[in-house]
Order: sequence, then structure tokens, then C-alpha cells
Amino acid sequence: MVMTADIGVIGGSGFYSLLEDAKEIEVDTPYGPPSDVITVGQIGERSVAFVPRHGRDHRYPPHRIPYRANLWALRSLGVRQVVAPSAVGSLRADYGPGTLVIPDQLIDRTSGRDQTYYEAGGAVHVPFADPYCPRGRTLAYEKAQAEGWPAIDGGTLVIIEGPRFSTRAESKWFSSNGWSIIGMTGHPEAVLARELALCYTPLALVTDHDAGVETGEGVTQEEVLSFFAANSERMRTLVGTVVAELSLDRTCPCPEALTGIPLPFDLP
Ligand code: ADE
Repeated sequence: MVMTADIGVIGGSGFYSLLEDAKEIEVDTPYGPPSDVITVGQIGERSVAFVPRHGRDHRYPPHRIPYRANLWALRSLGVRQVVAPSAVGSLRADYGPGTLVIPDQLIDRTSGRDQTYYEAGGAVHVPFADPYCPRGRTLAYEKAQAEGWPAIDGGTLVIIEGPRFSTRAESKWFSSNGWSIIGMTGHPEAVLARELALCYTPLALVTDHDAGVETGEGVTQEEVLSFFAANSERMRTLVGTVVAELSLDRTCPCPEALTGIPLPFDLP
């Protein structure tokens, strides 16, 4: 049986499964296997492919996640829109744990990650001024509000290399730049989605105040994972609603991201 999906979900820390009665598929890609087997199932009228970003047993730290394989595998299954929940720290005193942020910008502070499909075969420069799908973002914000989850519409997510958390000085500097949240996985995930002309919608759950805006001992892994786990049902519900209501009619700029660009290979 050929399995296909319209929408992909990449689950973050503490979000290792989504679909009931799903079929598991092992997909291989030119970039190796994705983080784990992909499960394909149904949410409402949508067929959905789910991949746990860190693997089901959380074996991949943020800098080792096979980002290229994950996005390639999803696209090869037919996915054209990706919903991406993740745990983030807050760089603002007024965004406490539990806040949901739908950022509209990112800052890349990673280093050494494979961040493009277009390494060879000619110059490919994709537009990335607005990294996220505007249609997906609007829907996610509206649905969160409707579910009684006060969400923040917009803001800048800075992505650090990790796996360590930031020093207090780094964190204060990030805050002073006006950046609102901090994570370790949003890059290169979003740009790889753009390089495959996919829609990409981030759902960032604040699990902690980062070191620059808290007065305690600094954030710990335990704090992040347990807070995300405690909120995973709420995130699961939101992801389900967003997926079920995302229109397959992509009236956003995302499908045109590669128009006029000579690609060195066919997209999957
Ligand atoms: N993910 C969750 N909390 C974080 C933090 N404070 N810094 C970086 N990544 C995070």
C-alpha cells in the first residue's frame, strides 16, 4: 500500500507520538533515515505524517537531529505543510511558562549544522525574509485563542547551537535585542522546509524563563522536559485542531518559494 500524507507534524521534546491507529513507515532519503519511523494516520479529513524530532527515545540532541532527512522524508510522502511544536525558553519576563508563542521571525545562532539541500550543482538562493507560513500562523493563533490558550502572535525566536543552555550574559544580550524566545531546533528546520517549498508553522511552548530573565539557578533539562510533558495534552489538542483545519489550498507565498530558481535536482 502506498502511504501518503498532506500535512506533516514534527514533534518536539516530550511530544513523541500523535496519531492513533497509525501505520508506521520506514523512509530512507539521500540524507539518511529520519529521526524515527514516520507514522501516518488521519486527523479529521487530513492525512498526517508524524515524526518525533528527537526520535521516540529522545536519542538525538538538537545539534545531531537529521533535519534534512526529516523534511525530505515528509515531502516524499506528499506532505506540503508542516506544523512544528517545540519547547522554548522565554527571554521576556512577561512571557511565563505555559505561554504559547507563534513567532514570525528567527535569528540563527547555530553553527556547523547541515542547513541546505543546495550545497552543489549551482547557486540556489531561496527567499527567507519571512520564514514562516502566514496562513498557518494565523490559523494557529486563532485556534489557540479559541481553545482558551492565550497565545502571542509574533516575536523573534533565536536558535542557539546548544546542547548547553545560554549563559546569563548571552541571555541578557538576546533579550536586549528584543528577541522574545529561545530554542535549539528551529534552525535549520524552517529553512529546509522553505528550500523544499513547504509551508512551515512553528508552535513554541514556553517551558522556562531563560537565564537572563530569571533570578534562580538557570534553566535545567529536567525543568524543560517536565513542563512540556505537563502541557503535552494541550499541545496535542491544538496540533490536532490546526491540522484538521489547515486548508490544502495553499494561498500563501510558500509554494512559490522556488519559482524561477534553477534547481540542481528534482524535489521528492
Ligand atoms: N528549550 C527550552 N528552553 C530553552 C532555553 N531556555 N534555551 C534554549 N532552548 C530551550
